[in-house]
Amino acid sequence: MTIITQLIATLGKTALFLALLVLVLAAVLNYFDDADPIKYASMNQDTAALEETFRQQNKSCFILGASGETGKVLLQELLQRGFFSRITLIGRRPLTLEGKAYENLVQEVVDFEKLEDYAAAFQGHDVGYCCLGTTRAKAGAEGFIRVDHDYVLKSAELAKAGGCTQFHLESSRGADKTSNFLYLKVKGQVEADVEALGFDRYAIYRPGVLLVDRQESRPGEWLARKFFGAFSSSMSVPIQMVAKAMVSNTLLQPEQKTEILENKDIVSLGKSAAEK
Ligand SMILES: NC(=O)c1ccc[n+]([C@@H]2O[C@H](COP(=O)([O-])OP(=O)(O)OC[C@H]3O[C@@H](n4cnc5c(N)ncnc54)[C@H](OP(=O)(O)O)[C@@H]3O)[C@@H](O)[C@H]2O)c1
Ligand SMILES: *[C@@H]1O[C@H](CO)[C@@H](O)[C@H](O)[C@H]1NC(C)=O
Repeated sequence: MTIITQLIATLGKTALFLALLVLVLAAVLNYFDDADPIKYASMNQDTAALEETFRQQNKSCFILGASGETGKVLLQELLQRGFFSRITLIGRRPLTLEGKAYENLVQEVVDFEKLEDYAAAFQGHDVGYCCLGTTRAKAGAEGFIRVDHDYVLKSAELAKAGGCTQFHLESSRGADKTSNFLYLKVKGQVEADVEALGFDRYAIYRPGVLLVDRQESRPGEWLARKFFGAFSSSMSVPIQMVAKAMVSNTLLQPEQKTEILENKDIVSLGKSAAEK
């Protein structure tokens, strides 16, 4: 993202031309990227009633990666919509969260290398959200696999054993266990391995480029966002929408146990949630 921002800053007019090129490319790509929409049995039900029924069940959820870009926004969205009586953050370090909104929040600090020892943290939740992840650049190839595959799978295993029935995994556009690219391969592998655990409900989110909406104005970033926005709804998605889609989707009843939400599905679900 920063590289692109810098590029635009230094290239000026060339960037404009590039943007145009991207627009054309996006149009073409988007044209060939039409997946079937997911079918929901509950789509026609009154959502307000659905929400109220869910709230009355005093459910518990946990978030992995709540300190990350998506996780942070997801936590806010969950607090705001109040679907859960208890929210537990499971992470490698405690987060400083001050204010009344965080009163009922539970924080579990765990050592992901010895997750077995922390099975209790995963006990008794109904729903799990996973926004965990690192990059090869940050952690090396092995470190990346440990975090994005091993930590995620072990967490899901412990959650399942602890009674969790619904798991939401933030994966990535293009995830494919047969891919030659390490990133996409690992994402695809963890998707499949978590599916094998057999949650009653399992939602996989495959966002494209994550767009972070910042409060402060950064002209370069704004331009970059417009730039990526031009990739249209199959290539990128604001982080807010991913969070909204994950939360809204929790209450829906898809016809299948496992559902895959491609970037487009995330955008449309996130948009309809934002309209409420
Ligand atoms: N960025 C994109 O454009 C993009 C696109 C598609 C999919 N994705 C995927 O979406 C997911 C979330 O992305 P994001 O950008 O929101 O994530 P992020 O901001 O990088 O946050 C990552 C989270 O994972 C935790 N984490 C990282 N390394 C860890 C380790 N070694 N041990 C324990 N926890 C660790 C971080 O905790 P700390 O705060 O303690 O480090 C943080 O909570 C990732 O799986 C990513 O691959 C990203
Ligand atoms: C949920 O909590 C409320 C308030 O504590 C309680 O009155 C209600 O019976 C609980 N419902 C269930 C399904 O446990």
